[in-house]
Amino acid sequence: MYVSYIKLVNFRNYSNVSFEFDNNINYIIGKNGKGKTNLLESIYFLSATRSFKTKNQNELISINEKKNIIFAEIFDDINKNEISVNLEKNFKKVTVNNKIIKQSSDLLSIFYAVFFSENDIEIIQGTPAERRYYLDIILSKIDKEYIYSLKSLKRLIKQKNNILKTTYNSEIIDVYNTKIEIENIKIVSYRKNIIKFIEEELNIFNKSAKNNIGKVKIEYKQSLLNFTEKEKQTELNYRECLYGAHRDDFIIYCNEMDAKKYLSIGEKRLTSLLIKLTEVMYIKKKKNIDPVILIDDALSGVDEIRKEFFWQIIKGNKLQTIITDTEMKCVDNNIFESYKLIEL
Ligand SMILES: Nc1ncnc2c1ncn2[C@@H]1O[C@H](COP(=O)(O)OP(=O)(O)O)[C@@H](O)[C@H]1O
Ligand SMILES: [Mg+2]
Repeated sequence: MYVSYIKLVNFRNYSNVSFEFDNNINYIIGKNGKGKTNLLESIYFLSATRSFKTKNQNELISINEKKNIIFAEIFDDINKNEISVNLEKNFKKVTVNNKIIKQSSDLLSIFYAVFFSENDIEIIQGTPAERRYYLDIILSKIDKEYIYSLKSLKRLIKQKNNILKTTYNSEIIDVYNTKIEIENIKIVSYRKNIIKFIEEELNIFNKSAKNNIGKVKIEYKQSLLNFTEKEKQTELNYRECLYGAHRDDFIIYCNEMDAKKYLSIGEKRLTSLLIKLTEVMYIKKKKNIDPVILIDDALSGVDEIRKEFFWQIIKGNKLQTIITDTEMKCVDNNIFESYKLIEL
């Protein structure tokens, strides 16, 4: 799939503008503050109906304006689809070919974008919550069952926390624990599956001499198998839910060293970009769709050899790719034979 056209009205710094894109490589050049990230944000919004920058959608409406529009034409192998998003303060309407879409997950089969940015490094060096969030977002896009389990677990944890803090009752806690164990098994199983996939794909990338991050192993740190007296007592002492998928984490080892602790910033950046690439592959495999790749200044801090390694993979994927940069760095290296240049 690819986005051929987008029109933005009152979207962040754009009052009324439209862009046409090539179905392969697009290169967006502009100085700081020109709106490169904003443009990618508008495209990403079409697939996730959420921003990668903010949880508050009102920020996407230009200052001093009351509503905005994102309108886009999306092509897949057979069809052309028109997606339109209308935002007003605390209101969102999404239509596909003039039909209102109620669940944002219904959009994903029509348009799916993967966004690469400098912040992806947080998958490696960020907090456990950031790593869990990363997995949760992908898995929620892939499988509705995962969304149900995750929501259900969150609700159970919230209620159990309340009971732990107020009217502790061992029997009620046991009921909650049984329910939590059931959701926990499902969530952990999904997460372990995708982690195994990421690990395998990273090790395939590793066969290239240009990327010497070493053999990758990813270990899922599961905080709960089942509740025994020990766990119950600890939770009672702290009066808090301490065990379950909401407290899990994963550790990435490169050559048996914890990547978070030992890799250089450049190595972490490249590894995180490669993890995002495995997401592209996961979606292709699970959903049988070709996502659009959005790359925002993402290769700053990565050396020339590894940049070229990354671009060669992008080139080999033959997916629509929209790259932003402040100057024409990767085109200078003649990596892409042809591309569409958009100057902001
Ligand atoms: N809601 C908004 N209304 C108007 N301008 C905005 C809004 N949100 C962000 N901007 C402006 O967008 C610009 C940043 O755009 P951005 O896409 O981040 O630039 P870059 O090209 O450096 O990626 C800033 O100048 C900021 O003031
Ligand atoms: Mg930017």
